[in-house]
Amino acid sequence: MTQPLDVESIQGFFANVKDPETGRPMSKTGQLSDVTVSDSIAKIRLGLTSHSSPVKEHFLESTKEQLAAKFGGESKFEIDVFEFERPAPKVGQIGLTAKSVIAVGSGKGGVGKSTVAASMALGLKRAGCKVGLCDVDVYGPSIPTLVGVHGQPAQVENKIQPLEWNGMPVMSIGFMVPPEQAVIWRGPMLHSAVTQFIRDTAWGDLDYLIIDMPPGTGDIALTLSQMMPLTGSVVVCTPQKVALLDAIKAVAMFQKVNIPVLGVVENMSGFICPDNGQRYDIFGKGGAKRFAEEVKVPFLGEIPLNMQIRVNGDEGKMDGCFDDAIVGPYLQKIVFQLSKSLADKYAVEPPKASLPVLG
Ligand SMILES: Nc1ncnc2c1ncn2[C@@H]1O[C@H](COP(=O)(O)OP(=O)(O)OP(=O)(O)O)[C@@H](O)[C@H]1O
Ligand SMILES: [Mg+2]
Repeated sequence: MTQPLDVESIQGFFANVKDPETGRPMSKTGQLSDVTVSDSIAKIRLGLTSHSSPVKEHFLESTKEQLAAKFGGESKFEIDVFEFERPAPKVGQIGLTAKSVIAVGSGKGGVGKSTVAASMALGLKRAGCKVGLCDVDVYGPSIPTLVGVHGQPAQVENKIQPLEWNGMPVMSIGFMVPPEQAVIWRGPMLHSAVTQFIRDTAWGDLDYLIIDMPPGTGDIALTLSQMMPLTGSVVVCTPQKVALLDAIKAVAMFQKVNIPVLGVVENMSGFICPDNGQRYDIFGKGGAKRFAEEVKVPFLGEIPLNMQIRVNGDEGKMDGCFDDAIVGPYLQKIVFQLSKSLADKYAVEPPKASLPVLG
């Protein structure tokens, strides 16, 4: 049975549509602005925040499908989406204002964390989100090299001014201290250096802060979790069995310090030969997907082993990967899946207002 198409029933319909950012009914958040109906045509003005922009098209399509199912296929819906402003909340007590703080980690080194962190940040930015990228790899900060940004950040009124990459604030431990100094940090010194580094940077208002973690070690994960409530983590792994064993450790590490795992990315997943377009699964196939299913976390997607990624990384031109015909679509998909998995999670359980955490 389909319902009659009128303003009231459309408003009622939106009581069951969740805002992808907050998981709250759109009829209650002020995001459902105007609704008019005449001659079986409903015009709806709907606000989405920049945080939700990666899932905007998907959200619209699925909302239209549900509307058609409820009110009958002969009805027409014109949805006009506008940008809804909702300021970012304070995260913990460190003065950071961000809606989602996401750490990218792995159980072992060299699997592509920094590549994934930089790509994810850029993909979110390209979709229309406000994003910051933060490299806390004290043992080998590689973001400066990958994104081709170098320099000494200025200090203005006790705040470190981040450098900029594609319109995003980017900070790396590598901008601040020579590598030989950072590697000797341990325990409390490491803790206070990383805390200061994130706290004292002028990030501005962010939808997403993406944090590139050092390999393995639980120290930084513990420090981050004591500093602020993180939205979650993304675990990067490669498909072969030995690497997956390390991914299990990474998931356990995040769970131990109460950082939810938002998903798994399989990097270096198959080699697509540029000569013949054929795929060779050098490290095996589908291991990370099966692993994600086993540990019950979303699989966010895969990135093939591709020479252009390495070349762009070496030349500080990671942004070039998004325009690459082979690699670009894989990166886009991961960005979409990350946002979608957040929206799905919030639809079930809306995020709590951030609680102060003792440092
Ligand atoms: N899918 C890929 N195809 C080809 N090269 C890749 C791919 N992913 C990453 N690389 C290259 O592999 C090297 C390691 O990647 P990256 O620095 O992102 O790894 P990492 O996990 O952050 O390493 P570390 O543990 O040292 O922090 C880099 O040279 C990068 O360009
Ligand atoms: Mg790295």
